[in-house]
Amino acid sequence: MATTPTGDEIRQSVAAAYASRVRPVLERPDTIPLTLIGSSASCCGPDDESCAVDAEGNATSCCGDTVIDETQITNIAKLYAGADTADLPASVMDVAFGCGNPTAIAALQPGETVLDLGSGGGIDCFLAAKMVGPEGRVYGVDMTPEMIALSRKNTEKVGATNVEFRLGEIEHLPIDSASVDVIISNCVINLSPDKAQVFREAFRVLRPGGRLQVSDMVWTKSAPDEVKNDMEKWAGCIAGALLESDYLGKIAAAGFHDITSVTSEYPDGRGIASAAIVAFKR
Ligand SMILES: C[S@@+](CC[C@H](N)C(=O)[O-])C[C@H]1O[C@@H](n2cnc3c(N)ncnc32)[C@H](O)[C@@H]1O
Repeated sequence: MATTPTGDEIRQSVAAAYASRVRPVLERPDTIPLTLIGSSASCCGPDDESCAVDAEGNATSCCGDTVIDETQITNIAKLYAGADTADLPASVMDVAFGCGNPTAIAALQPGETVLDLGSGGGIDCFLAAKMVGPEGRVYGVDMTPEMIALSRKNTEKVGATNVEFRLGEIEHLPIDSASVDVIISNCVINLSPDKAQVFREAFRVLRPGGRLQVSDMVWTKSAPDEVKNDMEKWAGCIAGALLESDYLGKIAAAGFHDITSVTSEYPDGRGIASAAIVAFKR
């Protein structure tokens, strides 16, 4: 009988999965598009309207033979429609693995300090950096060294001077207490083996009056057991996702108030959904 993986084993497996996804982008010469070296992080090109999920919830072959996993069931270009991504390089856009656009729900203001939990290649940090301007500051925290290496390289490419990426776990944030105005996160907290601890840490680093504005995967009905126990589906943002009510309960237990959630279910009938969640610290 399979043993239940420990929290550290889950984190190691998730970090290994994301390291292998980001390595081709980290190592490729800047001039070669990822599609030409046999891999694609984002689902479809900006003009592709055909991206969809099939009856099993898998992405249909909107990008020819490209292998698409469940983190990419949403077309990244569509997620960021209307966002200011035109000047972001391919090495940012090709590793956008989100399931929403937290900067769109965060109403970021000039001068604010923002923290992105699980910042990946940095897409939401770079969007946030433009919104908070030179008086503001953006921190990205990610546990995968390859992601941090790429996001730091991307910082130089983008020319962002108000963004800093730190290696660390979102369960143990390398961030001072009461130092952040807004926490954003995109398709990451579902990957944590200890979500209650993530929300406690989020509460600790927020200033009084600060807000948590995240996009994440949740279940609107109980996840099937075969999905919950599949480690590959954990890295794919499905197995570790909580029932929406449990997720919101953990946010409340950490001390947040005025918690709201808006979900968009994927059309496969299983009840897996992208949620836009907002909560406040008094
Ligand atoms: C689905 S990707 C999302 C990346 C980014 N937010 C985006 O929208 O492109 C998940 C990211 O979270 C990071 N991650 C997962 N679990 C983490 C944890 N417990 N602590 C820190 N980072 C974590 C992974 O290394 C990966 O970069």
